[in-house]
Amino acid sequence: MGSQLLSTVERREFLPESYIRPESDRPRLAEVTTDSNVPLIDLASPDKQRVIAEIGLACRTYGFFQVINHGIEGKLLEKMMAVGLQFFRLPPEEKEKLYSDEPSKKIRLSTSFNVRKETVHNWRDYLRLHCHPLEEFLPECPSNPESFKEIVSEYCREVRQLGLRLLGTISLSLGLEEDYIEKALGEQEQHMAVNYYPQCPEPELTYGLPKHTDPNALTVLLQDPNVAGLQVLKDGGRWIAVDPQPNAFVINLGDQLQALSNGAYKSVWHRAVVNAAQERMSVASFLCPCNSAVISPAAGLVRDGDAPVYRSYTYEEYYSKFWSRNLDQEHCRELFRC
Ligand code: SIN
Ligand code: FE2
Repeated sequence: MGSQLLSTVERREFLPESYIRPESDRPRLAEVTTDSNVPLIDLASPDKQRVIAEIGLACRTYGFFQVINHGIEGKLLEKMMAVGLQFFRLPPEEKEKLYSDEPSKKIRLSTSFNVRKETVHNWRDYLRLHCHPLEEFLPECPSNPESFKEIVSEYCREVRQLGLRLLGTISLSLGLEEDYIEKALGEQEQHMAVNYYPQCPEPELTYGLPKHTDPNALTVLLQDPNVAGLQVLKDGGRWIAVDPQPNAFVINLGDQLQALSNGAYKSVWHRAVVNAAQERMSVASFLCPCNSAVISPAAGLVRDGDAPVYRSYTYEEYYSKFWSRNLDQEHCRELFRC
């Protein structure tokens, strides 16, 4: 049997059975809040203390924020999106060469989330790439479209710089030394998921990605500038649609920053919904602790007399647990509580 890639099949009229969620677990799109948004932070603001305070507040309350004037040129963001879309438009036989549903493969094209494990599939194809150190992965990186390697290389380098800079600001906002988080995470890996969500005949019945939190440290997400789809759960109650802003990145904290901050900062549930009118793309870059990094709450953040919320563990332990489960099971992080 070939792959189950969505992007190789003609448009469908009905949602295939294997994508239909049970009644109790559907997006209920009419109930999503569209009139409030996650904080928007101008990184070029001359008032650095204010930027630190805004980021700190966003991390405590939403676990998500958008950044503008982040130093990466709009042209590069456009090129990244365009080459990603070109990739998904390649003929099926080209894409099949890269297809794999084995999560441990470092470069692969796949679909849904974890097709081998899950019972209901998600309306998404994705190209997953390990991208640090780049030189190690470039030889295996797709060379069709022709400009793919070059654009992805430049994009990954720039996004890494931005991510590390944000980790510095997040450290400062917690009252830690600027390099505290970077040191705690070791030589960080960087992974990327180029997501393609085709038009969906029945978007009320399924997800592009069901609710999850990210297992890594920090995610830098480039959203399709024209098509919304990312939604964030605010205070465990309302789903908020994250409105795409021109030339912005959406930043969210992963589980490792929640653990490191002893629960002060939030790794928040989010999901991607699909729509009947348009396809949608997003490009997620994940900064991940090195596998051997020992994650535990920063000593300075566990107040005298308080117990740490999370036990120490290695990132390798956490990450393999994450992939061994279904995305929408009980939260992986709960297994690491003291
Ligand atoms: C993700 O959560 O990794 C992707 C969300 C999106 O496509 O906006
Ligand atoms: Fe995510």
